Amino acid sequence: MSPLYLPYFPYFPHFPYTIFMPLRQHLSQTFTGFKDFFAITVWVFRFYARIHRVQFITLILVSIALEFAPLLSSWLLAYIIDQATLLKAQPQLIPTTLTTIAIMTLTYRLITMLLRNIYGYITQKFGTSTDPLLRQQIGDKLRSVGVQVLEGPDTVNLITRAESASGRIMHYFEQILNLTATIITFFGTLLVISHFMPIIIPLMFLTAIPTFFLDTHFLKKLWRYDIDSTESRRLAYTSLYALSNPRTVQEISLTGGHKLFTSKVSRFFGDYLRFNHHTRKVWYFGGLIISLPRILLETAAGLWIIYRHILGFITLGQITFYISLINQSISTLTSINTRFTNLNEMTARIKELKQIFDLTPAFPDGTTNLSVLKTGPGIKFSSVSFRYPNTTKNVLTDIDIDIKPGEKIAIVGHNGAGKTTLVKLICRYYQTTAGEILINDNRLNDLKIDSWYQNIGVLFQDYNLFEHLTPSESIRIGRYRHNFDPKEISTAAKMAEAHDFISTLPDGYQTILSERYKGGVRPSTGQAQKIVIARFFYRNAPLAIFDEPTASIDALAEKKIFDRIYQFFTGKTVILISHRFSTVRNADRIIVLDQGRIAEQGSHAQLMKQKGLYAHSFQLQAAGYK
Ligand SMILES: Nc1ncnc2c1ncn2[C@@H]1O[C@H](COP(=O)(O)OP(=O)(O)OP(=O)(O)O)[C@@H](O)[C@H]1O
Ligand SMILES: [Mg+2]
Repeated sequence: MSPLYLPYFPYFPHFPYTIFMPLRQHLSQTFTGFKDFFAITVWVFRFYARIHRVQFITLILVSIALEFAPLLSSWLLAYIIDQATLLKAQPQLIPTTLTTIAIMTLTYRLITMLLRNIYGYITQKFGTSTDPLLRQQIGDKLRSVGVQVLEGPDTVNLITRAESASGRIMHYFEQILNLTATIITFFGTLLVISHFMPIIIPLMFLTAIPTFFLDTHFLKKLWRYDIDSTESRRLAYTSLYALSNPRTVQEISLTGGHKLFTSKVSRFFGDYLRFNHHTRKVWYFGGLIISLPRILLETAAGLWIIYRHILGFITLGQITFYISLINQSISTLTSINTRFTNLNEMTARIKELKQIFDLTPAFPDGTTNLSVLKTGPGIKFSSVSFRYPNTTKNVLTDIDIDIKPGEKIAIVGHNGAGKTTLVKLICRYYQTTAGEILINDNRLNDLKIDSWYQNIGVLFQDYNLFEHLTPSESIRIGRYRHNFDPKEISTAAKMAEAHDFISTLPDGYQTILSERYKGGVRPSTGQAQKIVIARFFYRNAPLAIFDEPTASIDALAEKKIFDRIYQFFTGKTVILISHRFSTVRNADRIIVLDQGRIAEQGSHAQLMKQKGLYAHSFQLQAAGYK
């Protein structure tokens, strides 16, 4: 039975919980963090140890040594004061004492300076390496988890928040180093204090507790806000990006639409700043009241030490030593406190970064190795239904298709019919909701995905030109190898009707495809599409899938390209998706998709005879051309 139902008090059944729960919750929120805290610390330490093991260890030792500097300096000052007092009575000792003091001071200064420089050098080195290294690792990781995981809103939110965390890793590392060193020196100082004023130790801890709770409370509050506002932050940042990108600016400035974007940005930042400033106001001024007992304690301890001097128990040098010792340890305790609280917050943020590295693909890879096929594969959809993750409606229902090896299939259907989705399932970006896909009688799920990928080439409707590449590179990534034959690239470009215009570019195949780089030229939309088509001729895969490859290409070039697709890929399996019926009529078989179901299938002649959806749409388009 849940303890909530125990009848403690008939009228206030939850009585004990209403009092204790908030306190327990607060404690558990503060302290369950320790497990994460250790996990994150180990992770961060490993990250830096991998950069340079010897420097990593040096850094730890140096930061501990440096923490002893203030203690040593206080002691040195006390020594100098006492020696100076002595020298008045014994002037004959002046030369030796002054030499000793000079040597001690110089050595102290030189060593601390050396240590500080070593510390500075290594932290700078680690600091500048952090971001580039992390970005590469994150890039590799994200690519490996697959489309299904990558496009979910939770992953996108995680990535957005993790971006801000990457800048904090070095800071976290330094905080941990300093904290460890501070704790060590703090206990060293306490040991000294326990010899002359033990009572102050528990009092010091007592006065620090309220600050600790106050700080954790407010940091948690700010952190929660950050998590809850991630999506609106993303919306604001996307608007900001649109306000500075020439491609979007050209449209929104024309229509005045930028005002909507600006208002989205200012609404988000307005809310954010209001919340942040208010929270910090309460926090900082509340903190002032809470630190009052600590200030009183410091003053009282100082007075007591002076009183001991008046009574003759301690020397003048000891007064300065003890007072600075107590002030140091009280401020050290406060700084341990603040660092812990900061670390607590940073742990939560870095944990999200670490979570990126813990992401796993939505489904496991198969184990069957598919060799490089000589001829096109056969593809069979067997009662396949599919709906996208986090949605409720089927996009594809009961799809049965049997594509023979080497067959040229065309898929037509209205917008949103599910054509591109079908292609994504062949690429195994997602798992089918029901039924399965077979490739040459192997279950697609059983295949090692990379062995399947080496056999397919897909030109997606929302293709990427990669405007930071040159035409040569943009085509070459279709079948990337370190060594390549430039002639093969120009042959592919000729097939795609791209060669002529590439030759007119200032640097030909070596021109960057964007006006935003020096010497670069931006291709027209149709020219860009031709380059991407060249990439797919160059890929020359046993299964070639073209999703609306020629939507922006003029009619003459389009006809030539389609004729070449049919010729070039003989013996290979081809799937063509197009809204232009004139281009699909030569396919061996045409599949008509309607609202995620197969409405009709057959050759052009068969479908025309059926006088169904295809024949109707074909005639409609043909009439438009008359
Ligand atoms: N990643 C996604 N998550 C959720 N729903 C999606 C996703 N991608 C597509 N859809 C939905 O799936 C349906 C089919 O989309 P699909 O892109 O397959 O259509 P299509 O037949 O290729 O259309 P078009 O002719 O416009 O290219 C659409 O209703 C779309 O909203
Ligand atoms: Mg589509």
